[in-house]
Amino acid sequence: MLVSGSGTNLQALIDRAGEDAGYGIVSVISDRPGVRALERARSAGISASIVEWTGDRRSFTHEVCEAATQAGAEALVLAGFMRILGAEALTRFPDRILNIHPSLLPAFAGSTPVADTLEHGVRVAGVTVHFVDERVDHGPIVSQEATAVEPDDTEFTLHQRLHEIEHRLYPEAVAALGQGRLKVQGRRVVWS
Ligand code: GRF
Repeated sequence: MLVSGSGTNLQALIDRAGEDAGYGIVSVISDRPGVRALERARSAGISASIVEWTGDRRSFTHEVCEAATQAGAEALVLAGFMRILGAEALTRFPDRILNIHPSLLPAFAGSTPVADTLEHGVRVAGVTVHFVDERVDHGPIVSQEATAVEPDDTEFTLHQRLHEIEHRLYPEAVAALGQGRLKVQGRRVVWS
């Protein structure tokens, strides 16, 4: 798991992990120290480490891939990870890198999706789980779920509702990946 912040999605994945879940979490890697996600990993007895952003995407990506591989990871699961991985990650984990994004992609890609959703005045918001490809918030879509934007929504209330969806959607998608039930065919992901 790759994280940068509070790690509520990590927590949802921890809570569902285990023998029957279809996946296990072998390691949590953060690009910054002192974040809550690292505490959550340690509390769950999962190896937690920091690969600090060096300003150089190529060497940063290499270090992340090495740390994940050494921990025995078969896939990379990004949850609130605020860095863009370079090409090496895609080569080493082909169709095995997942990300979750709090908008209905391709709408509102980027780092401020919830604010952008409200700002644009759309009536329907949502969550997307997708494979990572060479473009940001762009890869084949694994799952999506929508929720209505309420007239009195703030960034906080809307993101809270989106988080509730995320905490359900992400463990399902990670389990499907772990069980080999996701096949990428061009831009489409086929579930079996
Ligand atoms: C989530 O909304 C996720 O979709 C986005 O960043 C947020 C991370 O939240 N990529 P958390 O750290 O899992 O609580």
